[in-house]
Amino acid sequence: MVRLLQFTLTLAYLFWTCGALAAQSGNDSPWWQKGVVYQIYPRSFQDTNGDGIGDLNGITARLDYLADLGIDAIWISPFYPSPMKDFGYDIANFTDIDSRFGDLADFDLMISEIHKRGLKLIMDFVPNHTSDQHPWFMQSRASKNNPKRDWYIWRSGRTPSAPPNNWRSVFGGSAWQLDPETGEYYYHAFLKEQPDLNWHHPDVRSAMLDAMKFWLSRGVDGFRVDAVNEIAEDLALKDEPKNPAWNPSRRDNDRLIHIYTGDQKATHGVIRAMRKTLDSFSGERVLITESYRPFDKLVEYYGTTTEPEAHMPFNFHLIGAEWKPAVIAKLIKDYESSLPKGAWPDWVEGNHDNHRLASRIEPAQTRVAAMLLLTLRGTPTIYNGDELGLKDVVVPPEAVQDPVEVLDPGKGFGRDPSRAPMIWDQSDGAGFSKAKPWLPIEPQFKTLNVAMQAKDPKSILSLYKALLKLRRNSPELSLGSIQVIEASKNLLAYRRKLGGKSLLVVLNFSARPATFKFRANTSQTMVKILSTGLDQTDQPNQVVPNKFRLMPHEGVIFGDLAQ
Ligand code: NOJ
Repeated sequence: MVRLLQFTLTLAYLFWTCGALAAQSGNDSPWWQKGVVYQIYPRSFQDTNGDGIGDLNGITARLDYLADLGIDAIWISPFYPSPMKDFGYDIANFTDIDSRFGDLADFDLMISEIHKRGLKLIMDFVPNHTSDQHPWFMQSRASKNNPKRDWYIWRSGRTPSAPPNNWRSVFGGSAWQLDPETGEYYYHAFLKEQPDLNWHHPDVRSAMLDAMKFWLSRGVDGFRVDAVNEIAEDLALKDEPKNPAWNPSRRDNDRLIHIYTGDQKATHGVIRAMRKTLDSFSGERVLITESYRPFDKLVEYYGTTTEPEAHMPFNFHLIGAEWKPAVIAKLIKDYESSLPKGAWPDWVEGNHDNHRLASRIEPAQTRVAAMLLLTLRGTPTIYNGDELGLKDVVVPPEAVQDPVEVLDPGKGFGRDPSRAPMIWDQSDGAGFSKAKPWLPIEPQFKTLNVAMQAKDPKSILSLYKALLKLRRNSPELSLGSIQVIEASKNLLAYRRKLGGKSLLVVLNFSARPATFKFRANTSQTMVKILSTGLDQTDQPNQVVPNKFRLMPHEGVIFGDLAQ
């Protein structure tokens, strides 16, 4: 029965192709379609001023590493002035740099060094909320008739002791905070120290778009826009319905169905205004949005041809996916078929909000995951440290930093474990900092660090470099169509094709060897180009037999000599 199901699945995917209209040559495609994005969590990348926290000069000092790795663009999580209640996602000034990270001169140096190396800079932009220490909020809370009062969402309680409605914060608890000064509540989708801006107010809109212009004029190549689905609220403030599927193991926020606080129509108007702002600047600037949504909701963030929104709404579906060929094949199919015409896909395997890839899947599968991410159709985003195969770091209770762990402890939602410092070398502090780092260092840093892995031709770092080089040199990988040709119990295989050229990717998801059968005749011209094992034993251009045996946890990319 199981075999029959696998066979049916295999057949269903056979001959199924997407992106057939993909560009025939890559020359006119924008950089963000051809390129690979690398996310830097700046607190944890490189400390140069000895405070145990990374900084912008640290990023500048490590640019050669990034250029050598072979990525194209860097997205840096927020480095604006911040009280750091949510580690930079609580912003107190949208047009400056937090002194812990440096200053505007450091920023200008960093961006010019980024551009000198032919790389791009994507900044984080956080439109949903400010810090409660932002001067706008301080004015807003000062009195009911302050001109900035309506820049935020204020209401009287339903009763003297109850908030205006049942809305809940993403981080848990009521989304309303009583401000004793004026006796009204303000709305916060995240922490109480992160009051929500009222995007229905025209002055908020223009002030925030001005902040974007400030950075665009300074040369940034795009934005990753934070928490877009939360941007607008229905100001009728009706209660949200209870979620019947909620149970105590789920996030507190899942108790409700967010029909009045999530994905509102007005939010799309905001993203359109951001896109217009970007498009009013010269060059190819990219707008990426952050929202964890099913594909049908996610793709709404592309907007339409006449009213475009994001170039790429981040696709996080690999993060939550069960690590099985059939599941991933279905994701590819569902994603591709939900994309509006002309919309460009993207894939993400990790970030600062989730457990690390190597802790979510079997560590031995991380090489297969690297090959998957860097051979799928769509711009890949790599999270710093995943190229070293790093796992979550254990953070003892006394070292916890993340407010999510503090507010909802012990459920595994805390984000510190994936935010631990980069490990560069064997020295104390792993080359990250000479001071006590803000989060613990990976205990195995002496063997897993960048310097050690760079010397090892078979390390996972060497694999990332080889894959990035292959992707750069093979337009069929960056821009070609994708055709899933097998999704069985252990194997996922797909073809990437552009013009007359194609590559075949075969991934073994199991801990046992697995045999891939080429279609009749094709094997006579198929050659192995790259294996996740990085073995150098094969002769170049040696034709493979019609059945190919993959090692446990191995992925292989094949080329075709006939092309
Ligand atoms: C998403 C960010 O990635 C996360 O780190 C942050 O806590 C929330 N948005 C709130 O800004």
